Amino acid sequence: MTALLMANRPLDPPVPAAAADLTLRRGAARVLLRNWTGASTVPSRTLYPHQWSWDSAFIAIGLRHLSPRRAQRELETLLGAQWDDGRVPHIVFNPAVPLGAYFPSPDFWRSSQAGAAAGAPAAIETSGIVQPPVHALAAWLVHEADPAESARRGFLARVYPRLTAWHRYLTSARDLGGAGLAAVVHPWEPGMDNSPCWDGPLARIAPADPSSFRRADLDHGHADDRPTDVDYGRYVRLAADYRDSGYADDGHAFAVEDPSVNALLIVSEYALARIARATGADPLVHEQSAQRLTDALVSRLWDAEAGQFLCRDLVSGRLVQERSVAGLVPLIVPGLPDDIVRSLLDTLDGPHFRADDTGLVASYALTGHAFDRTRYWRGPAWFNTAWLIARGLRLYRADDRAERLRAAFLDTARTSGFAEYVDPFTGDGRGTRDFGWTAALTLDLLTTPHPEAVR
Ligand code: SER
Repeated sequence: MTALLMANRPLDPPVPAAAADLTLRRGAARVLLRNWTGASTVPSRTLYPHQWSWDSAFIAIGLRHLSPRRAQRELETLLGAQWDDGRVPHIVFNPAVPLGAYFPSPDFWRSSQAGAAAGAPAAIETSGIVQPPVHALAAWLVHEADPAESARRGFLARVYPRLTAWHRYLTSARDLGGAGLAAVVHPWEPGMDNSPCWDGPLARIAPADPSSFRRADLDHGHADDRPTDVDYGRYVRLAADYRDSGYADDGHAFAVEDPSVNALLIVSEYALARIARATGADPLVHEQSAQRLTDALVSRLWDAEAGQFLCRDLVSGRLVQERSVAGLVPLIVPGLPDDIVRSLLDTLDGPHFRADDTGLVASYALTGHAFDRTRYWRGPAWFNTAWLIARGLRLYRADDRAERLRAAFLDTARTSGFAEYVDPFTGDGRGTRDFGWTAALTLDLLTTPHPEAVR
């Protein structure tokens, strides 16, 4: 490299002390090794003692740096619980874990019976709802970590049909708005359970009788960090109604188009195009689907005045006027119009999301009427969204900002003990510690500081 070129590269990271990196890497690896159950990884030994769908995808992205084979297995275990209609359940239950360890437990969802008509597996118990489709992206990144081992095990050829069926479920059965986007039908589906975006759509739902269930999350998490009892009652009502309909995708009382879910679907469609190319299938169908989804995302969910994407409530037909980090995650989508990218970058750096002291991104606007610095998705900063946004910043050549976010991520992951989420002002850990995706994405950022965009 010439001296001139080097001088033109002021954006490279100030390399943190190698020893500190090594300690952090070891700590992250230890979390992943401890949370491994033999076929998959629990997000947390206490709060989340089963396999979670989008957690597993993020975990595989980190695990590939420790054991590409184990990372493949992580995704294969999850996809092994796929339903015949294509849905990938948000939880795959471990039968060795006592029923009381997590609520709602398998005897609540009753997937093998209540989901039979939708093609739920007979021999594995799962939940009946889904989570964001990060899996094809994860599968491609896992493959790239060791293409020879991947080829030897036929990894891509085995996951490709399952991932294709998964995306087809989202773009067909879940196109509840009829405009080509995937809708979520429960606040747990976008993974941001108690986001203020759901307050309006959820207000129409009568909470289940509190005496009809017992929350297990409060045995392990502080009540101030977790969703409220009223919200839980509504989650239970929606899940029970879905179950009692045989998990049929019509007549949903809660139906929302979420920008983050659809952005992840787009990026995963581009990853599926790469997987198709590598396995001799047709990439074009996935590229075209990604393009269609991108057009629909922009036309349905972009709000120029807000300077970010918003959720659309399909029951009222209106955009939800709440600023959530879900509206910034689409920065990972390739080929966005320039004015949208500029506007997203401004919003990210503006008063709504920029938490100066930590350098992280709040899950809900710091200026918002419902902001709560400790409560789950109503304000705290999360590590998976930071990882995604840093990736989007790289994609759009905002390398210095990406590097700042990466440094803030690593710093806070270390000081918080791989917390589930943190207070955006102080970086103090909230929720559980030794959290799977926080550790996994730490490993990834330490190993792949300049990721190549999947497109
Ligand atoms: N995130 C939910 C929980 O807290 C469900 O996936 O249990």
